[in-house]
Amino acid sequence: MANIIDGKKIATDIKDEAKASAEALKAKGVEPCLAVVLVGDDPASAVYVRNKKKACEYCGIKSLSYELPASTSESELLTLIDELNANKEVNGILVQLPLPKTIDENKVLLRILPEKDVDGFHPYNVGLLSIGKAVLKSCTPAGCIELIKRSGVDIEGKNCVVIGRSNIVGKPVGMLLLAENGTVTTCHSRTKNLKEICAEADILVAAIGKPGFVTGDMVKEGAVVIDVGINRGADGKLCGDVDFASASEKAGYITPVPGGVGPMTIAMLMKNCIKACEAQNSEALNA
Ligand code: GUN
Repeated sequence: MANIIDGKKIATDIKDEAKASAEALKAKGVEPCLAVVLVGDDPASAVYVRNKKKACEYCGIKSLSYELPASTSESELLTLIDELNANKEVNGILVQLPLPKTIDENKVLLRILPEKDVDGFHPYNVGLLSIGKAVLKSCTPAGCIELIKRSGVDIEGKNCVVIGRSNIVGKPVGMLLLAENGTVTTCHSRTKNLKEICAEADILVAAIGKPGFVTGDMVKEGAVVIDVGINRGADGKLCGDVDFASASEKAGYITPVPGGVGPMTIAMLMKNCIKACEAQNSEALNA
C-alpha cells in the first residue's frame, strides 16, 4: 500500500511559511496585499474566491475584493486592472476564471503587470518558467512539485511522465519537472502506447480531466503518482484522474482526491503573493 501524500498538511505548512514571511514584511513596514477580482455569479468561482480571501486572512495578507456584475464590459474590467496595476499598495492581482463570454480572457490576463501576476498565467511568466527563471510560477503546477519534494522524493534523473498538455497544468508541470532535472515525457490524447509509457514512470502526473483514467496496470511498482484531476463521479462524489484503489496498490506515494493537489493551489498563491510583495519592495527591504 502506498504512502498517501497529505496535501492538506503540506498546504498548511506552506501557508504557515507565508504567514511568517508576511509578519516579517509587516515588521519592516510593508504589508502584502492581493486584489481578488470576480466577475459574474458562477457559484464555483464564488467558492474559490471566498477560499482565497480566507487564506489571505490566515496568512496575514491584506485582500481587496472586487465583485463585479456579469454585465461588466471588457473595457470596464481593463480599466480596473489598470488601476490595480498602478496602485503601489497592491502586490498581486487575481482575476478569477472563467470570465463571462463577453470578455476576452486572454486580453485581460495580458493586461495584468507580470510582476503582479500571482496566478503565473501571463505569457511573460510562462516564458520565464520555460527558461527556468520564474519568480511567479503558476500555482497548481508548482504545488505538484512541492508535494513531490516535501515527500522526500528527489526528482533529478527520474523518469517523469505527465498525462495532459494543457497550458495551465500539463505543459508547466513538464517544464518544472525538467527544471528539477527530471527526464520528462508528455502524453496526450494522440499518444501511442500511453499505457506502456506510463508504466515506465518513476513520477506520474495525471492532468487529463477524465475520472479514473490511470489504473493500477499503468503504474510502476513504487512510483510517485500525482493526481491533478477534480471530477464529479457518477455518484456525484469528487474523484481524480487516477483510480485510487488500484493505483495505490502499486504506487510508493500517491495523492488522494480530495486532499492532495487541490489545497496546494491556494497555498502556492499565498507564496506567490509574498514573493511578488518582496520583489516589488526589494529596495526598501534591503535598505
Ligand atoms: N479558476 C479555476 N482555477 C483558477 C486559478 O487557479 N486561478 C484563477 N485566476 N482562476 C481559476
